[in-house]
Amino acid sequence: PDFITVQELANRMTEKGSDIIKALMKMGVMATINQTIDQDTAELIVEEFGHTIKRVSESDVELELTGPEDKEEDLKSRAPVVTVMGHVDHGKTSILDALRKTDVAAGEAGGITQHIGAYQVQMPGGERITFLDTPGHAAFSAMRSRGAQVTDIVILVVAADDSIMPQTIEAISHAKAAEVPIIVAINKCDKPEANPTKVRQDLLQHEVFVEEMGGDVLDVEVSAKQGTNLDKLEEAILLQAELLDLKANPDRAAEGIVVEAKLDKGRGPVATVLVNRGTLKVGDIFVAGSEWGRVRALVNDKGQQIQSAGPSVPVEILGLNGTPEAGDEVVVVENEARARDVTDFRIRQKKEKQSTMPKASLEAMFSKLA
Ligand code: GTP
Ligand code: MG
Repeated sequence: PDFITVQELANRMTEKGSDIIKALMKMGVMATINQTIDQDTAELIVEEFGHTIKRVSESDVELELTGPEDKEEDLKSRAPVVTVMGHVDHGKTSILDALRKTDVAAGEAGGITQHIGAYQVQMPGGERITFLDTPGHAAFSAMRSRGAQVTDIVILVVAADDSIMPQTIEAISHAKAAEVPIIVAINKCDKPEANPTKVRQDLLQHEVFVEEMGGDVLDVEVSAKQGTNLDKLEEAILLQAELLDLKANPDRAAEGIVVEAKLDKGRGPVATVLVNRGTLKVGDIFVAGSEWGRVRALVNDKGQQIQSAGPSVPVEILGLNGTPEAGDEVVVVENEARARDVTDFRIRQKKEKQSTMPKASLEAMFSKLA
């Protein structure tokens, strides 16, 4: 059955149509730019160009826009991206605020400023950690179900006076499903009724085995309120990050994920983006989900305008033509025409998906036409 036109395939991969036609010819397939090719052929082409195929479901194959895999020698180490999760009131926000105060670079920028969806903290030793500001469990699973893997490490916050609660369990299952390592922050240890040992024991039942219980999950007793052991928590994050050996190629067109997006009265659509690989620069033309734009300005988590943002650096992007959604993939493309083609295609695809016509009758329609 027909699957995708050569033009659309080229758009999805941000490759030139003529290059696709050449590759098809090599495979013995003669096709013009407007002709459709079948799924198997399309998949071969996608692989030939080093792109990846994302199967949304058996029948619904989506081609990713992202570029080829990077060569090992181009990879440089990058900061870990950390998400804080846990039960209501266990102190997620307090821990993030307290960690933010440990940022040695904050002083230079004139203190804590912008509240963007993500921020980066610099350690006294120069190492950096990127924190995703409490996206909420719903947003986390929504992103994950869309294949947007943004976080490297989950900090599971458990209040020592309350132990494991329903959302703690939920967070554990999210982290496990995403195969992201957990670091347990046992919070509120300043409270007289705090019982960190009970937390460690209760975690056993949910198959989180901390070191003291013979496992390898790192845990730290902290007090966000009194600022106790935050350095130990950061050390644990850096240790875990070292084990993960996180790397990315900074010297390529940028790709990233929208963490948060809003329509700002004064500034227009603004997206907070976490760069996965490559370096995003002012002037770059990019696609974000079904929207596109030209980077007019990049604003960091300290409210400063910057010229570029590399891997694991969270930035606000100004210059979008519309407001994308959290979890949307951001990909820099070569020109405006390409950006328009890709977003037009995506908007069409969205509409098709939304149309209530059952698939069977659609197929029947096509077979009548053929
Ligand atoms: P939600 O965002 O509503 O899920 O809550 P949260 O997990 O972000 O908790 P938050 O940081 O808002 O803290 C909840 C309450 O616990 C607040 O009243 C904090 O002051 C208090 N709290 C947080 N950390 C500590 C701590 O280390 N010790 C003590 N004693 N209280 C704390
Ligand atoms: Mg909170």
